[in-house]
Amino acid sequence: MSTTALPDQGRPSAEVLAELQRFGVDDPRYKEGRLWSLVYYLDEDHAGFQAQAYEAYSSANGLNPTAFKSLKRFESEIIAGVADMLHGSPDVCGVVTSGGTESCLLAVKTYRDLARSRGVTRPEMVLPPTAHVAWFKASEYFGVKVRLLPLDGKLRADATRLPRLLNRNTVMVLGSAPEYPHGSIDPIEELGAVAARHGVPLHVDACVGGFILPFMEMNGHPLPLWDYRVPGVTSISADIHKYGFAAKGASTITYRNLDYLRHQMFVYEDWPGGVFASPALLGTRPGGAYAAAWAAMQHFGKSGYRDLARRTMQAFDAIRRGIEGMPALHILGEPSGPLLGYGSRDPDVNIFAVGDQMDARGWNINRLQRPDGLHAMITAGHLAVVDDYLRDLQDAVAAVKADPALARSGSAATYGLMSHVPLRGMVRSKVLDLFAQMYRAGGQGVDLHAAPAAADGLGSRGNALVQRLAQWYVQRRQRRQGRR
Ligand SMILES: Cc1ncc(COP(=O)(O)O)c(C=O)c1O
Repeated sequence: MSTTALPDQGRPSAEVLAELQRFGVDDPRYKEGRLWSLVYYLDEDHAGFQAQAYEAYSSANGLNPTAFKSLKRFESEIIAGVADMLHGSPDVCGVVTSGGTESCLLAVKTYRDLARSRGVTRPEMVLPPTAHVAWFKASEYFGVKVRLLPLDGKLRADATRLPRLLNRNTVMVLGSAPEYPHGSIDPIEELGAVAARHGVPLHVDACVGGFILPFMEMNGHPLPLWDYRVPGVTSISADIHKYGFAAKGASTITYRNLDYLRHQMFVYEDWPGGVFASPALLGTRPGGAYAAAWAAMQHFGKSGYRDLARRTMQAFDAIRRGIEGMPALHILGEPSGPLLGYGSRDPDVNIFAVGDQMDARGWNINRLQRPDGLHAMITAGHLAVVDDYLRDLQDAVAAVKADPALARSGSAATYGLMSHVPLRGMVRSKVLDLFAQMYRAGGQGVDLHAAPAAADGLGSRGNALVQRLAQWYVQRRQRRQGRR
């Protein structure tokens, strides 16, 4: 059967479902704790519970909040629960969004429009380089120029350098709790004091931390203040589909009060389809995601989330201690949990080669750049595999130390190359070409998992997209050298 065209005749649902299941055979083994990003998985019971909640409202549409009163009720109760969790006053308000990226995009649109209402025409925002990439995407989408706030020695935003980056075009400042690459919490109290003094909004990106830091604190874990208790904080994004353990498609953005949120709203009164108002980015808003998110929050409650936070931090502490005990490795920055990054401090141990060795042992681990490193987004589900992970990491380091040439093969060569290629504009345009190929009509014909030609000396392992980029870069360099 062709997999490229709509079938002429429909197929029985059982047959379709069986095939759909088979599509997943090569997906990451997240149920066994082998994947360290992307998925927040507990067990089949919880997955089944979420699927039932989702299914009950999978056709419902939150586009018009007056139509499905059920969905508006889910949304109101979710926002009230989040406001409480983040120590907000009764004025805190917000909306449920489809994910962290939508929440971040909305914050930028809101603050740009708030500033526009005050006459700002060339909007700028201040971000640390560790801000999630969604903020750089928002910069492009909404035409808000980024000013980068340098990091301190612990890879946190350096609040002392903030004042000189602010000017009358600044529409917002961003801090993360925690940031994605290294799990550090930016100094929100210090950033908030500067932002408040200059009358600039401060958004806290707690997409990762929103549903775990409050419960770590309740468990007695010492943490700096980062939520609405900090006077300068004007809005917070917190994802339910991450450490809230809801089905995919659920985040929140809350604001200190309606004076901010009203700039997020879109109203068009002259549309022939009727007067139209929308609180967020999407038109149709998926009812199933709201229902599942509400269900997860009701199911866990504070006690359940505290228990998850306790187990997560047990796994986090064990992994952190294990890595600290390996002389060749070091933790990047000062992670507060639940995620961390680590690099090599031994010149004979290439960290990307260690990543390759971990891949070969069946783990699925993200790579970091600037500085080079490996990444672990740790969940309670990983508690069961901590010992295996650390044993394999130790073996992986030993294997690389015994054979430093591994740094010049496999994906280590390509990751190393790509993170240090100086021509970022060329890298960007090449990535764009490759993505365009993937998404052109019939783009599934592009096999990104195919090994690049052996002649490139890059091997066949690792991220094929990165390999293709590196292959292009090497060939380009060779062509240029040939011309000289
Ligand atoms: C700090 C932070 N912000 C925003 C996002 C974007 O979230 P999403 O992938 O749900 O769009 C992420 C994702 O990991 C994140 O770590």
